[in-house]
Amino acid sequence: MRMKDKVVAITGGGSGLGREGALMFAAEGAKVVVSDIVPGRSQAVVDQIVAAGGTASAIEADVRVEADMNALVEKTVEDYGRIDVMWANAGIPEPGFGMQPLHQSSLEDWNNIFAVNTTGIYLAFRAAARWMIDNKRPGTLLATSSAAAFTAYPGFPMYAASKAAVNGLVRAASLEFGKYGIRANAICPTHGMSVNFALPGDAEVLGKSYEEMMGEWNPDNRAMPLRVDTPPVIRDNANLALFLASDESRYTTGQSIASADGGQFARTSIIFPTDLGQSEDITSGAIPDELRDQIDR
Ligand SMILES: NC(=O)c1ccc[n+]([C@@H]2O[C@H](COP(=O)([O-])OP(=O)(O)OC[C@H]3O[C@@H](n4cnc5c(N)ncnc54)[C@H](O)[C@@H]3O)[C@@H](O)[C@H]2O)c1
Repeated sequence: MRMKDKVVAITGGGSGLGREGALMFAAEGAKVVVSDIVPGRSQAVVDQIVAAGGTASAIEADVRVEADMNALVEKTVEDYGRIDVMWANAGIPEPGFGMQPLHQSSLEDWNNIFAVNTTGIYLAFRAAARWMIDNKRPGTLLATSSAAAFTAYPGFPMYAASKAAVNGLVRAASLEFGKYGIRANAICPTHGMSVNFALPGDAEVLGKSYEEMMGEWNPDNRAMPLRVDTPPVIRDNANLALFLASDESRYTTGQSIASADGGQFARTSIIFPTDLGQSEDITSGAIPDELRDQIDR
């Protein structure tokens, strides 16, 4: 049990990486508070955890709202007596999912992306750190950033900026909080990530990666070049989150680490399919030629 008796709060835990992590952490002995903005998503994950014999509770919370992030920490402490890990995971892509040029974007888009992807991490980190410092119960702060913070994805400029800011916050938070025994790290996923990220909030939670949705595995698929000859799954990313949330990483802090063949060392200019879930082979014809041309060869 790698998370035995640890108390964990997760934002955006109703789908994708947060959901996968919640299930894994609970299976490893953690008590988990799952939060999400979409009604019903957190409770569905909690039901799954409880059905498997784990311990979890749900709350609806918007990471953009200061009171919601404070309430998430309050509920965690109320339900389980403390908070050991805050995983600030919720994030959103850009409107148009890679199809909107930066010069045609609006300030409203920019502000909302930063409100969720950056301010949301700050508010969650701050609420948890305040409790940990005030109560002299050091713990761990974990952010979900993106490999887009290291290498810009075509079509995701505001997203890349918002995630680079997260990596900066993680470095700074580790410096500030180290003296209290609090660690701060980020996971920066690329491949093997949730296909729901590209879908509307009311879509069914699929629990699958883009690559799993692409049908038969084709290592030569040029839209998403990968070095390991097997399709990555969301769990491949959640495994890094598990390491960073557990005591196995007790001396790792201030780090933003790429997961699943991503980041500094990979060809991260991935091209996202545009008709996810609708085409049997979403790699053929689904990606516009002008975007294909931007692949980092
Ligand atoms: N899927 C990708 O391509 C990809 C790649 C790299 C990094 N990421 C990052 O991974 C993290 C998790 O996303 P995912 O891929 O699992 O996608 P996902 O859409 O499956 O899950 C994200 C969850 O966050 C919730 N959410 C959105 N806005 C919220 C808000 N304001 N407050 C609270 N919850 C909110 C959504 O309802 C959803 O359940 C995000 O930070 C994302 O930026 C995703």
